[in-house]
Amino acid sequence: MLEKIKQTADFIHNIIKETPDFAIVLGSGLGKLQDEVEAIHVLDYPEIPNFPQTTVAGHGGKLIYGLLEGKKVLMMSGRFHYYEGHSMETVTFPIRVFHLLGIKNLILSNACGGINPAYRIADLVILKDHINMMPEHPLRGKNIESFGPRFVDMSEPYNKKMIETAEKAAADHHIKVHQGVYVALQGPTFETPAEYGMLKAIGGDMVGMSTVPEVIVARHMSMDVFCISVVTDLGGPDIAFSVSHEEVLNAANKAMPNVITVVKSLVRNYQ
Ligand code: HPA
Repeated sequence: MLEKIKQTADFIHNIIKETPDFAIVLGSGLGKLQDEVEAIHVLDYPEIPNFPQTTVAGHGGKLIYGLLEGKKVLMMSGRFHYYEGHSMETVTFPIRVFHLLGIKNLILSNACGGINPAYRIADLVILKDHINMMPEHPLRGKNIESFGPRFVDMSEPYNKKMIETAEKAAADHHIKVHQGVYVALQGPTFETPAEYGMLKAIGGDMVGMSTVPEVIVARHMSMDVFCISVVTDLGGPDIAFSVSHEEVLNAANKAMPNVITVVKSLVRNYQ
């Protein structure tokens, strides 16, 4: 696996020839952020050696290198989910590659189900913490010391300074943002009302099927991580709203201008 990661990083490095300031991963329905990048190189996943392939509608499959607000960004349009059948190694493969490319800052986005009763559809939530309920851990197995330690500190999974910068950006633009705890489940089913009740009881504000494996692997390598979620549907023990993938994409679309504003401002102002 290490050889493959190096091979892929070398391939990308030979094309972009620079170290990006940020890696950005776009979640379900959030692909439009890619239009904001002044693209210098666009690589389709199939042309990148060893790169996994996506299988879900609404998830693209492109790595875009270019400028966003004058900063060098490497953007992943289309991520890999555990529920697709990928191993955790595959799900987190791009994050390992980003690290070997010298990238220090990681911005993630996703669509989530709102658990917190104060949340509304198309609200933005900055992750302040998470609860990992995925059935497999991405760091299980032999530790690669060159990446990071066997036992990883997770006391600050999401970088406080990045959160502050994003909060300020949102306030400056009069965009409402929450801060919440994201619970990661494997999916692909959305949650039952009883499951929503459980997730609320354990301290979750929102639930989703991605992100946490990538965050763990990024923290293993001491990358600074930021994640913003769009609430695309709501659930709870006493609410029986139905939800479809289409509704998730529609809500993500509605929130897109705000996501774009916050992410651009974060990229512009961080460090
Ligand atoms: N649950 C899990 N993942 C999701 C949801 C949800 O309700 N909405 C968007 N992604």
